Amino acid sequence: MERTLSIIKPDGVERNLIGQIVSKFEENGLNIAAMKKVRLSKHQAEAFYAVHKERPFFGELVDFMTRSPVVVMCLKGEGAVAKNREIMGATNPEEAADGTIRKLFAKSIGENTVHGSDALETAKEEVAFFFAESEIY
Ligand code: PPS
Repeated sequence: MERTLSIIKPDGVERNLIGQIVSKFEENGLNIAAMKKVRLSKHQAEAFYAVHKERPFFGELVDFMTRSPVVVMCLKGEGAVAKNREIMGATNPEEAADGTIRKLFAKSIGENTVHGSDALETAKEEVAFFFAESEIY
């Protein structure tokens, strides 16, 4: 069983898409092991996306992720990291496959509705960023 982190970004929460997105995960065999709604502080968003701090869009990404609440989830299942990435679709919604969350709901490469850990190691760090072990079932 793998664990991975999923975030429903502000554009998804603002448009009341939480239920539809969670259904996609459940329909595809992922289990919601932990879940909460939080408003990220600037400090938290900068720390979470620190790997991208030299990229030109960093300020825009932090502003977007802090403008309203997000929903963070620990997803659990076989091959959860790759499965979540598959369900999400490509970062750029124009390149996302039919039926994926980003193809269905994302507006742009910036406002792309969901985040998912990109590898098992990153997933461990990202899950621990938001959840204590005692909060994960
Ligand atoms: S990936 O999936 O990590 O390879 O994608 P990458 O292209 O490296 O993008 C990393 C995250 O930055 C976001 N992003 C942007 N935000 C605002 N403006 C622009 N132009 C932009 N380009 C990329 C992208 O949505 C990725 O967010 P996460 O949360 O990691 O999916």
